[in-house]
Amino acid sequence: MCKSWKTYLLWFAQEHVEFRYAEIESLLSLFKIDMRYLEQPKNEPFWIVQFSSENDIKLLASRSVSLRNCLELWCHAKSIPQLHDKLKCFPRNLMEQHFKSNRSFKIEVETFCKHFTQAEKINKIEAFRAVSLTNPDVIFQYIEYYGTEANNPPELPYEVASGLRQLIKKISLKTRKFIGNTSMDPQLSLLMANQARIKDGAIVLDPFVGTGSLLVAAAQFGGFVLGTDIDYLMLHGRTKPSRIKQKVRDKNESIRSNMQQYNLEHRYLDVLVNDFAVPFWRDDIQFDAIITDPPYGIREATERVGTIKENYTVEEKHLSTHVPAKIEYGISNIYRDLLRFSAKHLKNRRPNEDYNENCLPSHPCLKLVANCEQGLSKVTSRRLLTFEKINHPTDEELRMTHNGIMDFREKYFIVREETRKERRTKEARIREENRLKYGKNQDK
Ligand SMILES: C[S@@+](CC[C@H](N)C(=O)[O-])C[C@H]1O[C@@H](n2cnc3c(N)ncnc32)[C@H](O)[C@@H]1O
Repeated sequence: MCKSWKTYLLWFAQEHVEFRYAEIESLLSLFKIDMRYLEQPKNEPFWIVQFSSENDIKLLASRSVSLRNCLELWCHAKSIPQLHDKLKCFPRNLMEQHFKSNRSFKIEVETFCKHFTQAEKINKIEAFRAVSLTNPDVIFQYIEYYGTEANNPPELPYEVASGLRQLIKKISLKTRKFIGNTSMDPQLSLLMANQARIKDGAIVLDPFVGTGSLLVAAAQFGGFVLGTDIDYLMLHGRTKPSRIKQKVRDKNESIRSNMQQYNLEHRYLDVLVNDFAVPFWRDDIQFDAIITDPPYGIREATERVGTIKENYTVEEKHLSTHVPAKIEYGISNIYRDLLRFSAKHLKNRRPNEDYNENCLPSHPCLKLVANCEQGLSKVTSRRLLTFEKINHPTDEELRMTHNGIMDFREKYFIVREETRKERRTKEARIREENRLKYGKNQDK
C-alpha cells in the first residue's frame, strides 16, 4: 500500500545540539520509524520532516529528550507576505476539519532569538485577518490544530506531540537524594540512554557508575540496571557530601535510594565494588547496553588497583584488613579496556550485519524496485525483492553465472558445526580431567 506522507515541523530545545541528530536517528532505528528529511538538518532548532503516520511521531516524541514538540506544518516562508500567500493555497478541506464551532482554541506566537511584546504578537495574529479566506470569522483559528483524526482529537490543541522534556526536571540533580561531584547532568544522561537505544527489559551496565545517574536514565526507559565502581565509599554513600549546605550524608543516601525516589527500584539490579581493570564477570555474560562516563583524571583520579613495588605480597594475617594500593590507570588504557570489554560482552544487535544492498542478487537486465524485510526472529529475517525487467539479455548476459550472492548455508551452518565440534571437544576434555581427578564414574 502506498504511504501518504505529511509534513511536520520538529521543534528542538537548543541545548546539547550535538547530541540531537544522534538521538533522533537512534530512536528512529529503535522504533523502526520511517522519517523523511525535507532539508538536511543543521544546528537550527527546527527540522522540516515527513512522517506517514501520526503514531510514529507520537512514539518518537514519547522517548525524545531533545524534541520540544512537533507540529503539522501547513506552510512556511521567508517573509510574512509570502507566508500569507502560501496559506491561501493550503487545501481548504485539510484546514476545515479543524474549524469546528464547539472547539476551544489557543493561539501561540512563538519566536526564536527575538522577543516580541504581547501587542506585537497580537498584531501578528491580526495580520492573518487580511488573508482572504472566504469566511473571515474563522481566520483567527488558523493555528488551532487537533491532528487529522477528527473522531479522536488529542487533548491539547497545537502540538501533534511533545517530547519528554519534563523528565529532565523530574530527575533533576537539585532534588535527587544521592548526588556527587561528578553526577551526570540529567539531560545528557537521558540523551545517552536514548543513543544506547534502551528498550524495555534491556540489561544495562555502567562500569564506572559513580552516583548512578546513567542508571537512573536507563531505568526510566525500561532498562534493568547494574553498575560497578572502584570507590567503595561512593557506592556506600559515604563520600563527602557535594551539596554546599550539607555537612554529613543522610544514612540512606545511595543509588538504590535514588531508584526508590523515582519509583524505579524494580529496575535496579545492583551495584558492586570492582576495579574495571580487573573484570570479574563471567565470560559469557551479555549486556544489551553499556553506558558510561569513565574518569578523565580532572575531577577524579584515574586509578586502578596495583603497585609499582616488585614481588609485592601481603601476609596472610593482614589480608582481611588490607586496603590495596592504587596506581595510575591511564585514559588510553581505560578506553582500550572499555572497547575490549564491550566487544566481548555486548549482545550483538545486528543479526543481519552481513547484509548490505551490494550482496543482493542482481542482474544487468533487472532493476530492483522494492526490497522489503520481514523479521522472523531476533536473528533472522527474509526479504521480498521485486525486480522489473529493463532490458532483454544479450547472449553474454544469458550465460552469466555469478550473481553476487554469498552462500548462506556455507557461511553460517559450517561455522555452527565448528562451534558444536569445539563444544564437544571441550566437554570431553572436562570429563577426562574429572575422571583423572575424581576417579572413574565422577565425570559430572
Ligand atoms: C566521571 S565519574 C562517573 C560519574 C557518574 N556518571 C555519576 O553520574 O555519578 C567516574 C567514576 O569512575 C570511577 N572509577 C575510577 N577508576 C575506576 C576503576 N579503575 N574501576 C572502576 N571505576 C573507576 C570513579 O570512582 C568515579 O565514580
